[in-house]
Amino acid sequence: MRHTLVLSFGNTLFKKTSFHAEELDYRRLVANLILKTYKDIGYDAINVGEYDLTMGIGFLKSWRKRLSLPFISANLKGKEGKGVFDPFRIVTLGKYKIGILGVMKEGVHLSRVPDGALYHVTDPVESVKEQVKTLKKRGVNFIVLLTDMTSMECKKIAHLKLPINVIIGSSRRNRLSLPKVSYQRLILHLDRYGKHIGKLNLYCLKKGGKHNPLESRIFGDITFRNAFIALKKEMPRDVKIAARMDGYLERIRILKNQLAMSHGESLREGENAGATARRHKRFVGVEVCRKCHEREYNQWKKTPHSRAYLSLVKKGSQYDVDCIGCHSIGFRQKGGFKNVSKNMVPYVNVQCEACHGPGGKHVKNGGGMGGINKLVSREICLRCHTEEHSPDFIYRVFSRRLACGKKGPVKAEANK
Ligand code: HEC
Ligand code: HEC
Ligand code: HEC
Ligand code: HEC
Repeated sequence: MRHTLVLSFGNTLFKKTSFHAEELDYRRLVANLILKTYKDIGYDAINVGEYDLTMGIGFLKSWRKRLSLPFISANLKGKEGKGVFDPFRIVTLGKYKIGILGVMKEGVHLSRVPDGALYHVTDPVESVKEQVKTLKKRGVNFIVLLTDMTSMECKKIAHLKLPINVIIGSSRRNRLSLPKVSYQRLILHLDRYGKHIGKLNLYCLKKGGKHNPLESRIFGDITFRNAFIALKKEMPRDVKIAARMDGYLERIRILKNQLAMSHGESLREGENAGATARRHKRFVGVEVCRKCHEREYNQWKKTPHSRAYLSLVKKGSQYDVDCIGCHSIGFRQKGGFKNVSKNMVPYVNVQCEACHGPGGKHVKNGGGMGGINKLVSREICLRCHTEEHSPDFIYRVFSRRLACGKKGPVKAEANK
């Protein structure tokens, strides 16, 4: 007897709601890869979230048709208020009839979606209320809601005391949160980048029976056990999915490299990095800082920041727009560089200006007049040391390792 449901809260196809036009080709390849993998894994229901719409709603519709993917959304509507996807799916597991309902958060801007003008998103709460009634009429005895709402919004839905049993959400903020029971509803939240799967075991209590003390949390007549499983590289790979993934990654890498090569001419003969950088008003590059700050330069050279670009080269990702921003300075910033190309050489590595801000003005003033950030706050680090890319980041610990601007030899305790 089947007793497992495989569900997705959506928001998995794209990291952003819009992309530079030239990126679209390979962003689409990434999404195609995810969609085909959905099919192979055999999902029972896939909610549609804001971050699934970047290529257009027609894009999703065509994939649903091509692979019969079980997309659901109760509040994504076309002309005359007709739903674009089924609002829910009903799956029978043993003697249980389970309704899986999908809803998109409020305030999604369809104006950014390529074909968004043809669609609209209705009030999620009203849509949920309406569809829950339909599900009850259809005789379901358990309802799971999938959504891209924040945990606060999920809690509000729980407070309405509708006959919804489990709410599984994943919001824009990339956070896991442990299951909470709120008004007899179980609420879970997962991260957005597919780095974990949630495994939720539900056990029905027998009438008058005692529940296992190990499963001490109950809601209604159900106990549960939950685990978040981190999808680490070391995990065994599914042969078929892995082969397809490798193929796609190679195609994406080639596309990105072609794109990079199509941008601008390479550095002129005999031109050094510092000179090229100086032509730009704002970011001047580390070689310029070095002239007056030899001590900081030598210290910086010892840190991995000075080799950050090499890490990309080693991975074959040196022209990858998804990587370069944090392994360089000034990417798509004023006074920095716009395209990934050979011309970006002066900007590569996490140079001084990644933390102190662009130094053009400071240098023009001969250095003495300020014009540069002296205090480097934690927020600046967090632009790159995100949860996704630097999960162990603790400001106090990491900033000590830099020892930037410290007078005299680095104290022994700084190396702890
Ligand atoms: C022409 C020489 C010169 C160059 C080039 C230069 N600086 Fe400075 N910098 C100075 C002087 C002089 C001071 C002030 C002296 C001091 O307090 O140590 C200073 C101070 C600073 C300070 C402390 C600011 C403050 O308000 O006390 C930082 C941070 C700094 N520089 C970073 C940089 C960075 C980053 C670069 C490269 C983008 C750079 N400097 C390039 C000369 C220079
Ligand atoms: C522009 C993006 C960026 C900013 C801003 C940034 N870092 Fe980093 N940091 C990186 C990258 C990329 C690496 C990895 C370098 C490598 O090995 O390729 C790194 C590595 C480090 C490391 C080495 C980690 C290790 O495993 O030893 C420390 C320490 C560190 N950063 C501290 C900081 C601190 C503290 C700040 C803020 C004051 C900061 N960083 C700001 C991008 C950044
Ligand atoms: C949001 C900023 C950000 C982006 C985007 C980013 N990185 Fe990083 N990367 C970091 C930071 C920060 C570190 C340092 C992590 C730490 O030590 O805690 C790092 C570390 C690394 C390291 C480890 C260096 C080592 O061997 O220890 C490699 C390799 C790397 N990044 C490759 C990539 C690749 C490839 C991409 C693109 C797919 C990428 N990064 C995108 C911020 C970023
Ligand atoms: C990863 C971030 C980061 C990078 C990269 C970095 N610094 Fe710093 N720098 C800091 C931090 C943090 C401080 C300490 C600020 C404080 O004490 O509040 C500092 C302090 C300084 C100071 C002393 C400011 C003062 O007078 O107290 C100078 C000068 C300086 N940095 C110059 C440089 C130069 C030049 C480079 C490049 C060779 C560089 N920094 C690279 C983060 C960075």
